[in-house]
Amino acid sequence: MKVKKKLLIICVICFICIIIGIKTMYNWVHIEVVKDLTYESPHPNLIKTFLRPMEYCNSFHHINSGEEGDSNISGYSLELVHMVMRHGARTGMHSLPGIQVPTLSCKIESNSLYPNKNKCQGSDLTPFGMKQHITTGRYLQRKYGGLLNITQLYVRSTGYSRTYQSAVAVLLGFLNHTFLPFVRINRSREASFCSPSLFSGSCHCPGADKLIRKAKNEADKAEREDIDKQLLINRLRGVLETEIPVGLSVFSLIDVFMTFACHGIPLPCSQDQRKCVNQSHLDLIFKIQDRVGKQMVFENRNYIQFAHLYLHPLLEEMADRMKKVARRKPVESFVLYSGHDVTITPLATVLGIHDGKWPPFASRIVIELYKKTENKMHYFIKVFFNGEDVTSKASFCKNKTLKGFCKLKYFLDFVNNHLHDNGLDSYDEGCGIPNL
Ligand SMILES: *[C@@H]1O[C@H](CO)[C@@H](O)[C@H](O)[C@H]1NC(C)=O
Ligand SMILES: *[C@@H]1O[C@H](CO)[C@@H](O)[C@H](O)[C@H]1NC(C)=O
Ligand SMILES: *[C@@H]1O[C@H](CO)[C@@H](O)[C@H](O)[C@H]1NC(C)=O
Ligand SMILES: *[C@@H]1O[C@H](CO)[C@@H](O)[C@H](O)[C@H]1NC(C)=O
Ligand SMILES: *[C@@H]1O[C@H](CO)[C@@H](O)[C@H](O)[C@H]1NC(C)=O
Ligand SMILES: *[C@@H]1O[C@H](CO)[C@@H](O)[C@H](O)[C@H]1NC(C)=O
Repeated sequence: MKVKKKLLIICVICFICIIIGIKTMYNWVHIEVVKDLTYESPHPNLIKTFLRPMEYCNSFHHINSGEEGDSNISGYSLELVHMVMRHGARTGMHSLPGIQVPTLSCKIESNSLYPNKNKCQGSDLTPFGMKQHITTGRYLQRKYGGLLNITQLYVRSTGYSRTYQSAVAVLLGFLNHTFLPFVRINRSREASFCSPSLFSGSCHCPGADKLIRKAKNEADKAEREDIDKQLLINRLRGVLETEIPVGLSVFSLIDVFMTFACHGIPLPCSQDQRKCVNQSHLDLIFKIQDRVGKQMVFENRNYIQFAHLYLHPLLEEMADRMKKVARRKPVESFVLYSGHDVTITPLATVLGIHDGKWPPFASRIVIELYKKTENKMHYFIKVFFNGEDVTSKASFCKNKTLKGFCKLKYFLDFVNNHLHDNGLDSYDEGCGIPNL
């Protein structure tokens, strides 16, 4: 009798679990423990020799280290972490005439990770990209596990499989597996992570669209006029023996060639296989890209204004959360935004921490909020770009850090004033939203 009763109770519990499971399947991430992934990654020799290009792929060694969480010093406690990241390595989204795009396996050894297919299609996260973010997650777990209640999470991702999978991968490395199935990933329509439910203004900003169009024209012009561009095209034509259009962007060249290089696949060759794209070509490509990128981030007024306008809602959202912590209101401990290069580049520009280089795969910007308890409560932030402590470089903290910390007030003032300081009267005015 007792055994039957127990069985009955177990059955009822199972039934409830199944119902809850089905009901929430759409919104809740179901994840299994991923065994060691089989993945293709850059060949170690490539990492050693192709320095600048391989920096773009982003090796595990680099992902697995950094200065985040190192400020756990006496008197300071970590209260809140915001992390904005770019998806991991993906397949190309462009094609070049005469170049066979390599077929990569997107088979991830877990039947619940989505999408899970034999062959990657364009712009899919590859198993190497997945592993990059599992590594990020494990790294963060090591750094933050003892400092924060990391189960108090808020996770957002844009609606692309590569960003969604990247978020899942970070969580896989970050969280206790018993907790994992209960994490909800909130979808963002915008790569800027403007949230209609958290931002008081409108996420529709035609002014930003206009600025980015102008900015892009300027950047395209800078690239066309770059002293090495014609040389590059001529060299590639010589190697590949195809009519590579003069107007082909360096962006698409990187996109295609790095799909090979980041996954350990030999670079494309001429039809007779006698000449191949090699390190010197990639170096030249990145030389142009870095030059054009620097120009954009430091001199292109339209781009700078765009970045400030575009990321204003996200900055406000972060500032609001920090203010809540300071007022001791309940708030998440760890907030993750899984986005794109077009998230990282403008954010790094706005914060004043960009060097103009196209952000590597799996790049991350982390902002930590600390509480210092003396007689009075004081709050400080720290900023990290790909693991490097860049607090003292951030525009609002320059020459104002104390023992490496930056007062929260400086950041809040910055969020209040950055539009005005960049020639924009207000968000609504900049966006071209008429006053009603
Ligand atoms: C943080 O620092 C305290 C002492 O200041 C130490 O006891 C604790 O282990 C540290 N935590 C981590 C995760 O490093
Ligand atoms: C961490 O947060 C979770 C979810 O809010 C809560 O259930 C748990 O008790 C917290 N753990 C600690 C140690 O505070
Ligand atoms: C995961 O969490 C559960 C419940 O909080 C705990 O019993 C278990 O030890 C944790 N496992 C790991 C690996 O931390
Ligand atoms: C998640 O997203 C939806 C719509 O995008 C929004 O309405 C909702 O408030 C979000 N949830 C949280 C917790 O922010
Ligand atoms: C790269 O290829 C070009 C053209 O085929 C050749 O001239 C050059 O020596 C090669 N460079 C390296 C570093 O292999
Ligand atoms: C900030 O510090 C740098 C050196 O770290 C110095 O060159 C610069 O002049 C300082 N700027 C201001 C505004 O004090």
